[in-house]
Amino acid sequence: MGTRIAGTGVYVPEHVLTNYDLEKMVDTSDEWITTRTGIKERRIAKEESVVFMAKRASEEALEDAGVKPQELDVTVVATITPAKRFPSTACFLQAELSAGGYAFDISAACSGFLYGLELADALIKSGKASKVLVVGAEKLSEAVDWEDRSTCVLFGDGAGAVVFEASDSESDVLAVDLSSDGSLWEILYADSCGYIRMKGRELFKIAVRNMEESCRRVLEKAGVSPEEVKLVVPHQANVRIINSLAQRLGLSEDRVFVNIDRYGNTSAASIPIALHEAIKEGRINRGDIVLMTAMGGGLTWGSALIRY
Ligand code: UT7
Repeated sequence: MGTRIAGTGVYVPEHVLTNYDLEKMVDTSDEWITTRTGIKERRIAKEESVVFMAKRASEEALEDAGVKPQELDVTVVATITPAKRFPSTACFLQAELSAGGYAFDISAACSGFLYGLELADALIKSGKASKVLVVGAEKLSEAVDWEDRSTCVLFGDGAGAVVFEASDSESDVLAVDLSSDGSLWEILYADSCGYIRMKGRELFKIAVRNMEESCRRVLEKAGVSPEEVKLVVPHQANVRIINSLAQRLGLSEDRVFVNIDRYGNTSAASIPIALHEAIKEGRINRGDIVLMTAMGGGLTWGSALIRY
């Protein structure tokens, strides 16, 4: 039994917050944000709740896949900005979609989508599920201290969704490599109902090193060389991290997908949004090998290699 990527979808809020808008809010500049991070603007949810964003992304992914919500066996939402402490955001999403099966959240910060992908793949390959919806959805604007210039310029809101389904043909998911190290939690965290706190410089170095090692492991597991990778779809935390990673893997920048300039860091939503855009822009076609990699609070990190 193989796991097929059946459909993808995205929702980003309409409201755009530019670096120039931020110049009026904190002591920062478009020049600093652009050169240090690659971000030019981000989307900020006004009316939209995290459930609404997850719903809109899921509806598009389900339609793309030709799957009815009632056919879903499992709905997983990866988020660090849940609608309530409980029930899970996935349960609210299930209700909104009238989805079948069972639903639960994953808390793995920016790596959340990859953790969800691993679960979906394992459930499908073990025969326990045949249709699994994995959503990364974040309303980070509610978790950001808008007076802290070192973090508030980095994050944005949005959602991305992928429908995975069982297939008799070869699996689209070639290999997954996940890690976490809870002893490093203080590098990036938010207290319950508190703001995001980050030791940026420390995290930068760990992110580049850990993502590179994870990428190499996942390629080795699948017996695939970096040259065979059509596109890297990395978590969008900082364009300098992305470029360093590409350089270390010996890949030219045109083989790495970047949309951080438009959305900033959307944590768990980052990879599924980027994957969807890369597919819709024709940067990924059926049969192409795609490498996804992320690093986030926990600390958590990992990679997944797919043949789309
Ligand atoms: O999604 C999870 C994974 N996230 C990451 O991996 C993020 C990793 N870290 C980073 O991306 C970068 O460390 C940041 C973008 C967060 C920061 O960039 P940096 O080049 O590491 O800057 P820094 O923190 O070392 O700060 C350099 C200077 C400081 O001033 P001094 O001490 O040199 O005078 C900061 O106070 O930049 C100052 N600064 C700012 N200046 C203007 C910090 N934030 C700002 C700002 N505007 N928004």
